[in-house]
Amino acid sequence: MADILTIYKLSLILFTILRACGTSCPVLECWFVQEKPGGGFPAAMTQEKSILYISSDTVDRTEAEPTRRPPADISPSRIYHISDPSATMCRSALHPPQGSVKKPQCEINPFLPQPAMVQWAAPLTSAALSPVYLQADWSSVALQGLDGQLVLSNVMRAASATNKPNVILSVFSKTASIRSRLGVPVSLDCGFWADPSSPLSGSGFSVEWRYQYRGEGRLVLAYDGKTDRYAETSEKGAELNFTALHQTRNASLLLEETQVRHSGTYICTIYLPYLLAQVALDLEIQEPPSISISPSPLPVVIPGQSVSVQCDASGFAPLSLQLRWEFLGADGKVQVLGEGRMSGHRQASDGTFSQSSWLDLDTNRLDLGRGGELACVAVHSGGTRRVSATVNIVGVSAPSIEDSMAMVAVALGLYGLIKVFSWTFGSFGSGNGDSEDKKQN
Ligand SMILES: *[C@@H]1O[C@H](CO)[C@@H](O)[C@H](O)[C@H]1NC(C)=O
Ligand SMILES: *[C@@H]1O[C@H](CO)[C@@H](O)[C@H](O)[C@H]1NC(C)=O
Repeated sequence: MADILTIYKLSLILFTILRACGTSCPVLECWFVQEKPGGGFPAAMTQEKSILYISSDTVDRTEAEPTRRPPADISPSRIYHISDPSATMCRSALHPPQGSVKKPQCEINPFLPQPAMVQWAAPLTSAALSPVYLQADWSSVALQGLDGQLVLSNVMRAASATNKPNVILSVFSKTASIRSRLGVPVSLDCGFWADPSSPLSGSGFSVEWRYQYRGEGRLVLAYDGKTDRYAETSEKGAELNFTALHQTRNASLLLEETQVRHSGTYICTIYLPYLLAQVALDLEIQEPPSISISPSPLPVVIPGQSVSVQCDASGFAPLSLQLRWEFLGADGKVQVLGEGRMSGHRQASDGTFSQSSWLDLDTNRLDLGRGGELACVAVHSGGTRRVSATVNIVGVSAPSIEDSMAMVAVALGLYGLIKVFSWTFGSFGSGNGDSEDKKQN
């Protein structure tokens, strides 16, 4: 009895595991895109619907899945049964929840294996490899998960005309879009997997990070796997962790200290002999402004007059900023006073921006009541900042204890001054008289 129970429990566990495995890899709708034969410039593209059945084991499972019927509008030549032992295509970011309108973006293209042109990857191909292995149907697939949580790019090989590709090289990133504050370290995630059973994975790999912003591009660094050192480092404070690179194939780019000019797109490319795959990541440096109100403290406002107040926002990036003024009356009423007169922006040498706004606190136009708090509010993608200053209106507010004490002090001071003055004047006058008297004598 106990044995049967155990067997029952075991099979239940096994069933659960199998179920989990069976459902963990998605079926992906994808676009097959290729250049139109015949060419032209710019190259004309054709686009066909395709479908990808993914399994994370290397065993051919197509026969075991006769129930999965592909949609009728998809040509049989665009139905792929992909084996992905790295299981990156099975990650949850590529599973839209049931009935979700948002789907992962997917594109599959023909791929042509060829020796790398760049100097840090060219040596990889020098270890000549079986050309027979390269004679196959090669394709690449690029995927973007929901909410930019995962981007990946795979190079796949299928025996000719089988439509059953195996993933040979997979490059992926968990942080397709990163926001960072200024002046902090940041890691741009990029990892890869290379099929250990492929003859292409034995002779090393190379890594390249490029930066692109508004059409301008440059190399950040390049790692030559043949010599196991950097072939190029053009950016100070940008590096790879070599331990992580070799141990876990973690090719993440580490920026020691973020600067405004680091905002842009970064492309992580992994080279194997004849193959390459790359993913692109966006980094945006978002630094909220520091703000202050001047003059500080604000001068006492005399009814009927107006006081000019300035709010300075500085050290922020990117440029887009909204400033607004608010007045919180002593009675608790909030008045939004608009953005005031905005200045143009200035850019500091570190790339951050500053901008100011002036406001006329005009007692004839504004109902400032018995005074209150004047606030400057800066709304920025890096965060909202707020600073406030006390507005005192002469003769309107009942004098506070400090005011009364100040008045007493002023009165005492004045009294003292008059006293001293009258003494000085008095003695001076008499002195004068004395000397005159003496002269006359
Ligand atoms: C790589 O290492 C970084 C830390 O440097 C870590 O945050 C990241 O998750 C790792 N990525 C992969 C793909 O292992
Ligand atoms: C480099 O990676 C290794 C292994 O992942 C980790 O233990 C180490 O802390 C990392 N070094 C730096 C400087 O991030």
